Amino acid sequence: MSGALDPRLLARAREVVASITGFRNDAIASEAVDRVVRAELARGRTAPDLLGELLHPVSHLATALVKAILVGETYFFRHPEHFRFISHEAVPAALQRGALALRGWSAGCASGEEAYSLAACLQASLPHGFPVEVLGTDIHEASLEAARRATYGTWSRRESAPRLFPLYSETGEREVTILPPVRRITTFAQANLLAPLPERFGRFDFILCRNVLTYFTPAARDAAISLLSRTLNPGGWLFLGAVEVDRVPAGMVREGPPELQAFRLLTQEELNARAAAASRAATLARPVAAPSRRPVAPLMPAPVREVPVAPPPPPTRQHLNALERIEEGDEVGASSVLEALVRQAPDYLPGLLELALLRERSGAREGAVPLMRALRSRAERLPPDQLVEGPEALPARFYQASADAYLNQGALE
Ligand SMILES: C[S@@+](CC[C@H](N)C(=O)[O-])C[C@H]1O[C@@H](n2cnc3c(N)ncnc32)[C@H](O)[C@@H]1O
Repeated sequence: MSGALDPRLLARAREVVASITGFRNDAIASEAVDRVVRAELARGRTAPDLLGELLHPVSHLATALVKAILVGETYFFRHPEHFRFISHEAVPAALQRGALALRGWSAGCASGEEAYSLAACLQASLPHGFPVEVLGTDIHEASLEAARRATYGTWSRRESAPRLFPLYSETGEREVTILPPVRRITTFAQANLLAPLPERFGRFDFILCRNVLTYFTPAARDAAISLLSRTLNPGGWLFLGAVEVDRVPAGMVREGPPELQAFRLLTQEELNARAAAASRAATLARPVAAPSRRPVAPLMPAPVREVPVAPPPPPTRQHLNALERIEEGDEVGASSVLEALVRQAPDYLPGLLELALLRERSGAREGAVPLMRALRSRAERLPPDQLVEGPEALPARFYQASADAYLNQGALE
């Protein structure tokens, strides 16, 4: 079927794709959207019918549109400098810190080449039998099915990428199969990078998220990085693709040269040392008090001074208190601090998000959804670029994108 398509339908289709994936408008291929819409029309559906379906972001049509625009390009040992760094620097550092097991996550793994490359790298870099596992996730279930099959053709083995660690064996004329020990430690699951990874997947020491965020809007990219960093173990590493971020993510330090795009989450001891150094610097910077004159006896009794009433703790301080409790494993205490915070300051967006994520992690999704709805409606009322105060100042669009992604998750399940 040829002819012009309804522009409102196309615009809504792009909006739905963007809200599910986080993609920028210019990263959503028009031909792919047109193709899916035309196929539906060819099946006898009408434009108003499709528009009606797209009012619900979780729909068959939304899923088809998202699948059509995804780019699954990948190959073994892509960006070999990351695997060399992990093997030579990051793994020895983790062992030195006393790690008893190591876990990796290939976030946006496409057909699995990156996840298996990470598994092979970790296995070859650790003493025999050291507990190690790797999770690969992607939004696209069909790619994950290919990953689970673990057989690959020549396209996955580019000449440009070296075979750094034992990874596969030849099992056909043009086919290779992942080695059983590598396959045994690698699992795959569907997950959207804009939604919190369910708690059952645990935390990670190495996260690779490469050539994914490059398609995202800045708000979606910030939201994804913030969620990724929450799943890192203290001291864990995040590796991003070239030019995917222009600043060091909050709570992290850059490791290696800037072009490596490798970041490490600070440990609690490092955070404490930084806080102590900052408070020492603040003390040194305080103006020295002028030497006091000898006190003169007052002729009149001093007027009674009003004792200032201590202001209630600002939301950020309460929020930090909750974060400390989470860090100590006191999720119940953190939850009651956050509940009080949300009651007292319902417009404090970081509090709504934190409590929603805490409830989600503890399996109480029904308690998280109303908070995410409240977060979305409040964030929508702010100018998207307005910075919202919190433990880290983030633009209002970050909160809107986080809530959108959470409330739309499941669209592809
Ligand atoms: C170009 S591939 C990159 C694969 C691999 N990371 C690499 O660097 O070789 C990008 C992958 O990101 C996935 N992706 C895109 N948006 C996503 C999202 N919001 N959540 C999870 N995966 C996403 C796509 O389905 C695709 O498989």
